[in-house]
Amino acid sequence: MSEGKVPLSVKPAVPRHVAIIMDGNGRWAAARGLPRVEGHQRGVEALRRTIRAAGEIGIGFITIFSFSAENWSRPASEVGELMGLLRRFIRNDLAELHQSNVRVRIIGEREGLDADIGRLLVEAEELTRGNSGLTLVVAFNYGARQEIARAARRVAEQVTSGAIKNADVTMETLGRFLDAPDVPDPDLIIRTSGEQRLSNFLLWQSAYSELVFVPTYWPDFDRAALELAIGEYQQRERRFGGLVAKTGS
Ligand code: FPP
Repeated sequence: MSEGKVPLSVKPAVPRHVAIIMDGNGRWAAARGLPRVEGHQRGVEALRRTIRAAGEIGIGFITIFSFSAENWSRPASEVGELMGLLRRFIRNDLAELHQSNVRVRIIGEREGLDADIGRLLVEAEELTRGNSGLTLVVAFNYGARQEIARAARRVAEQVTSGAIKNADVTMETLGRFLDAPDVPDPDLIIRTSGEQRLSNFLLWQSAYSELVFVPTYWPDFDRAALELAIGEYQQRERRFGGLVAKTGS
């Protein structure tokens, strides 16, 4: 750079935490005359690509909505397939995730899950606890209202036991009892498949998240699609209720 010149542009910040609603597996399959399960299987491949890309891009946290508390209402065969996919994902991919220094966290209700799934979730968290790279938060059997109700119940227990006073219950108190209180709020939430709603995902944590809806069905999602969504995020001006734009992370 010649003397006296200043760079005209500063590279916009990469979001620290990206959360993804991986939607459209069924429609991807239907459009090809394939069974829905094929869409979910291809969805796992898209997930692998996305985790790899997120690490390369320098994202710190990625949360994925992999099974919602409401997904139990699907036909038993599809629920079984989704449970099987989680089992296989952890069995097949955990060693590689660990090797890549990924830390796995799980949010959602553990009670009521098959015992072997419960053990796999604990194993994934325990094995990767000391990793310092990308944090992968898997929302499994997750619903945001249920998470907030669980937190409220824990706060109530604290009040009953006398550990905290009624008057000390603030949003920070409740926030400390959420499923992963140390994970920062998502800067960016991406939903694939063209649907434009949050569907009971991270309702507390998304208060100031930027929402980006992309038409791509989840099985087709890749690094280019992720970069496009991040590009849109970087155009947004985040004011967090104030008047001056702030960076999220
Ligand atoms: C939404 O597509 C997707 C899901 C309900 C499940 C998401 C799961 C995966 C991508 C793979 C599983 C990954 C793990 C780690 C278990 P949809 O079925 O609602 O699609 P549709 O709206 O087109 O029917």
